[in-house]
Amino acid sequence: MKTQIIEKFIEVFQQEPHSVYFSPGRINLIGEHTDYNEGFVMPGAINLGIYVTIAANGLPFSRIYSIDFDEEFSISLNSLAPKKGHWATYIMGVVSQLQQAGYPVKGFDMVFGGDLPVGAGLSSSAAIECAVGFSISSLFGFNLPKHSLIHYAQKAEHLFAGVQCGIMDQFASVMGKKDHVIKLDCRDLSFDYFPLDLGVFQLLLVDTQVQHSLADSAYNRRRNECAEVVLMAQQNQVGVTSLRDLKLKHLDEIKPFIDRAVLDRGTYVIEENERVIKASEALKEGEIFKVGELMYATHEGLSRKYDVSCQELDFLVDQTKSLDYVIGSRMMGGGFGGCTINIIQKEKAGHFKEIIASAYLDKFGKSPKFYTISLGDGTREI
Ligand code: GLA
Repeated sequence: MKTQIIEKFIEVFQQEPHSVYFSPGRINLIGEHTDYNEGFVMPGAINLGIYVTIAANGLPFSRIYSIDFDEEFSISLNSLAPKKGHWATYIMGVVSQLQQAGYPVKGFDMVFGGDLPVGAGLSSSAAIECAVGFSISSLFGFNLPKHSLIHYAQKAEHLFAGVQCGIMDQFASVMGKKDHVIKLDCRDLSFDYFPLDLGVFQLLLVDTQVQHSLADSAYNRRRNECAEVVLMAQQNQVGVTSLRDLKLKHLDEIKPFIDRAVLDRGTYVIEENERVIKASEALKEGEIFKVGELMYATHEGLSRKYDVSCQELDFLVDQTKSLDYVIGSRMMGGGFGGCTINIIQKEKAGHFKEIIASAYLDKFGKSPKFYTISLGDGTREI
């Protein structure tokens, strides 16, 4: 990928690039839809991601070439605005954040591409944002602190892409560590690395190949529903700023005054935070089976209470329940499509892929994809 991207740069822009940078996608072991509720998550960066190469061009505008879309796009640095649905939106969003923070971004040429599937729930957008922010910072010598990079990337997603995402994806992309997951407290961003040693088991992602177009608006709606629960709870409790501050008993008190579905969102988040704590304890003790059980419980909650699953994801998780060599399975990421994450016995992976592919094809008339990933380091020069 590195050679490919450098060659493309020379071909398109007729000059040598400055350097090549990489920012990874992420998986999330457990802790879904908890990040924007100031809760806990347990993501890890993966070996797949986005590669960027860049050089200054001495012009008042920047030119960006996407290998995957085989398209060049120019952006004027004094009038950045989102272009809905276009890949350049993420890049413009990051540049705009850097400018607002006072960093003097000058004209640059950039080529990017990756080996991370887009729309599979592996956070390709966070990987682009972080790779772009990091490469611009390196090119112009900004020495952007990691936490600023994470925040600007998240802000780009909010203000340009229009998704009110939490901090998990950008944090995992920048802070990832080889063979580790990160237990992150999204309230104060304190974190611990946990080695993920699965012994005879491995992680396997199954991609539904489904992407629901309403996912972004549904995501933002969930965020508002959580805020609604908090607002209601604040009438009885002092010092409540997020669902993180609530216990299930607090929800009992507001039950009569709140819509059932909205209450369910709150219940799910409170339970999920507890599951992340339990999973981190289980990981410390090497109790992988316990982690797997918690993953199934997470899926149940995401499907029934948080209502962000879909029939394809539910089907894939259900299929694993009768397979004793799969010890944990759940939908991963924002939902409404994308991947399931599974903990499966290594030597059975081949058999698993065969039977799942055929069952999925029978049911939905299309084939799922399988990704065997490993956990890797975060954003870096390569
Ligand atoms: C998306 C968002 C994250 C997080 C997950 C759900 O990936 O970008 O911030 O909320 O969904 O856990």
